[in-house]
Amino acid sequence: MHYFTYKNNKLFCEDVSLEALAQKVGTPTYVYSQATLTRHFKAYQDVLKNRGHGMPNHLVCFSVKANSNLAILKLLKKLGAGFDIVSQGELYRVLKVGGNPKHIVFSGVGKTQEEMIYALKKNILCFNVESEQELILLNQVAKKLKKKAPVSIRVNPDIDPKTHPYISTGLKENKFGIPIQEALALYQHSSEFSSIQFIGIDCHIGSQMLSLCPILESVRELKKVILDLKQKGIDIQHLNIGGGLGIPYSKEVPPSPQEYLKDVLQELKDLKIKLLCEPGRTIVGNAGILLTKVLYTKKTASKNFIIVDSAMNDLIRPTLYDAHHEVWPVQKKETSSWTADVVGPICESGDFLAKDRTLYEPQSSDLLAVMSAGAYGFSMSSNYNSRPRAAEVLVSGNKFKICRKRETLKDLIHGENL
Ligand code: LLP
Repeated sequence: MHYFTYKNNKLFCEDVSLEALAQKVGTPTYVYSQATLTRHFKAYQDVLKNRGHGMPNHLVCFSVKANSNLAILKLLKKLGAGFDIVSQGELYRVLKVGGNPKHIVFSGVGKTQEEMIYALKKNILCFNVESEQELILLNQVAKKLKKKAPVSIRVNPDIDPKTHPYISTGLKENKFGIPIQEALALYQHSSEFSSIQFIGIDCHIGSQMLSLCPILESVRELKKVILDLKQKGIDIQHLNIGGGLGIPYSKEVPPSPQEYLKDVLQELKDLKIKLLCEPGRTIVGNAGILLTKVLYTKKTASKNFIIVDSAMNDLIRPTLYDAHHEVWPVQKKETSSWTADVVGPICESGDFLAKDRTLYEPQSSDLLAVMSAGAYGFSMSSNYNSRPRAAEVLVSGNKFKICRKRETLKDLIHGENL
């Protein structure tokens, strides 16, 4: 079941025509489908709910960095999501929508003292600690506040996730996590950290992973650590398997969240432990598109260009990772097709949304949809070239609401002094 479909050659998000939406809201605009978000979240939730009798409960922590719009966080909270955050700003957002602190895990290699204090005062579920120095500082900060900081150690299992190097995180040359042997030693020296309570273990080896092998290998490594600690009398309450499952941007066929979790649960079948996961892209990636308008077309001796009103400041993934996003016409037309690059107005040759795409030859004012843009789209956008950031819209059935209004020129200079 797809929620971005053509009806009479016009592209719809659920029951809202994107053409009509663009007329009301303008472009560029991120458009999200509530039904898709809900279905994707439930795919995780339902498998874990049925994990089996006697098993401790679970928590699906949406990775806020993928999309931090308040309306989306609120929807996911309502569906029962916890949250994986990486900054005080993300924590602030989750709390703004009434997120339960006891459903929040805090990841990241560079938490500041200020962030630790904020999160400790809010009583979050867990800090995913990524270095010994971070642990030492957290212990000191918690002591001063007369609190015990709940901690999970993020293990770096040195496993190749076979994805883009910028989003690989579980290899020993990456900045993330603590090698297994060192992590084991830290758990065993817990008495040196009187204001820390070790409650979990976690791991996240990369993003947009299309094969289950590396993920399952890392789960097996974590299981070994948990059993090893158990033998030494140290009981870990939760296992957090991170996020990272890939989505189809084009012709990829990644395992579904159901298949992924089924295999993970099989690996863990005799381990009675609370299970956490931190999906981002699989929840929101294919629930969103970037709606954009054609400004001009241009033919040169060597290339054709479609110049649109969104750019690398709106969606940086193609520029940064050479990422592929399908580009669909909002109105299908019978005109001849051509091969062109879809580019933005920014003054850099790296400013492109798609390269060498064969699609119909559009005219000025035609609308295009850059697909699979719900994750790491708006959340990585910027004001480069002093471009106000796009609007965001959440669609549900035949209704939509602007969940972030388009920035204005005034917004652009907010906080600046002459
Ligand atoms: N947990 C941790 C600790 C993470 O670092 C990440 C993503 C996630 C969970 C969620 O991963 P996901 O399920 O979304 O793959 N900007 C890049 C992706 C960066 C991912 C960073 N960490 C992109 O646009 O592809």
